[in-house]
Amino acid sequence: MRIIVMASGSGSNFAAIYQAIQTRQIEAEFCTLIVDKPDAYAIKRAQGLGASYHIVDYKEYPTKIEYETMILNIFNQYQPDLICLAGYMKIVGATILNQYEGKIINIHPSLLPSYPGKTALDDALSAGEQEIGITTHYVDSGVDTGKIIKQTKFMIGDMSREQIEERLHKLEHQLYIETIKELI
Ligand code: GRF
Repeated sequence: MRIIVMASGSGSNFAAIYQAIQTRQIEAEFCTLIVDKPDAYAIKRAQGLGASYHIVDYKEYPTKIEYETMILNIFNQYQPDLICLAGYMKIVGATILNQYEGKIINIHPSLLPSYPGKTALDDALSAGEQEIGITTHYVDSGVDTGKIIKQTKFMIGDMSREQIEERLHKLEHQLYIETIKELI
């Protein structure tokens, strides 16, 4: 199983996946990390870990089609079996889906189908939810609408926002690794 990871932000899920591959917790081959923002902290993590990465800066491409064609070229160069979106903040367009739908998965911080979109945790908290969920799912053309693979959840009790985020990230890393193992 050949794996590409895509990220836009901090990259903690990327690092967890990468390290799980390095330690053979996941029996797979890490191809590369693709980052769409040149200032993303994920790049620093990749450098620190000695992991291969590519920066494809969205702003340098006049259209989404041209941007995604560049990404597609990288995919085709590595021939991945699985593409893991890990805080990749763009909707995947037809250019990529036409060739790779069914091989792209994502992790989302809610119990989908509840609270899709970028503000999932805030939305769940302001709705007064006592349980926070995490979902891994296949990526389709919608926003967090693809087929669900795995879910987990935890009670927030009297946790602070910081504690909730810390727990959430820890569980995300575990769930992503379990999901990849299951798919293998
Ligand atoms: C995670 O909360 C994930 O669920 C969401 O984006 C965040 C990425 O975190 N899709 P990180 O960049 O992996 O630390």
